[in-house]
Amino acid sequence: MDYQAILERIAQDVAPLVGDGTPAEYIPALAAVDPRHFGMAIADLDGKVHGVGDWERPFSTQSVTKVFALALALSLGGDSLWEHVGREPSGNPFNSLVQLEYENGIPRNPFINAGALVVTDRLLTLTGDASSEVLEFLRQESGNPELAFDPEVAESESAHGDRNAALAHFMASYGNIANPVPALLDHYFWQCSIEMNCADLARAARFLARHGLRADGSRLLTRSEAKQINAVMLTCGTYDAAGEFAYRVGLPGKSGVGGGIVAVVPGRCTLCVWSPGLDGQGNSVAGVAALDRFTTLTGLSVF
Ligand code: DON
Repeated sequence: MDYQAILERIAQDVAPLVGDGTPAEYIPALAAVDPRHFGMAIADLDGKVHGVGDWERPFSTQSVTKVFALALALSLGGDSLWEHVGREPSGNPFNSLVQLEYENGIPRNPFINAGALVVTDRLLTLTGDASSEVLEFLRQESGNPELAFDPEVAESESAHGDRNAALAHFMASYGNIANPVPALLDHYFWQCSIEMNCADLARAARFLARHGLRADGSRLLTRSEAKQINAVMLTCGTYDAAGEFAYRVGLPGKSGVGGGIVAVVPGRCTLCVWSPGLDGQGNSVAGVAALDRFTTLTGLSVF
């Protein structure tokens, strides 16, 4: 398959949408990003990457890191994680509090903020330094040792972090958070601030297309765990738009409010698209459209 030609065609097709939507406004450092960027990359199973547009320009990964934190927490701590977080779509916005009270402090899934806080809490218990562990994992899987946190984004988010603090304290009141909330929030904000480009992210996500095998050929997850993460990405990775994303794209995907989305074609390739203009659910407008075009043009989807 000529991935380069496909990417160029997609970039042309979605050009009218680039700039639509709005960059995340609740984190001032992200609100300042020009919404007219668009980049997309495809990595094959061996890490050969094709790209188009701004595919080598770094952006804030934000919630895309939730999938990497989940993989690490499962790999290091195993299935007991699922006693603390569910696997059902929430049907609510990514930062919603409402379900937590009547579901006893157990978040619906690991990709809404509440669930991701539980995962980072677990990783903090398992490793002593959750955010550095995620960064190191991303460096190794992308093959880019230069990856780094963006302190401006982390501090900006911390200064405007009341909602995440509320989620963490509320879950702690149910005994579902093991570490002190301020330390947990710190790790969560720094994890979200990691900067990467489309090529790095597409490469780093390959373990999900390689049925759990890392870039160096060692095993991170069992085949079954890799399937499980892909399944949760499909059903929960784009929040209250996951049904629409599955309908339009038909691939496991994970979005972030920086405008990035990672998607997986198991057994075949990984994709990353970036465009900062977001829709009402916090997903990149041009990014979803580009992945929609990808599966239409190639016929590659899990269905
Ligand atoms: O927790 C937050 O608010 C952000 N740092 C991450 C949220 C995010 O990316 C949600 N995605 N669409």
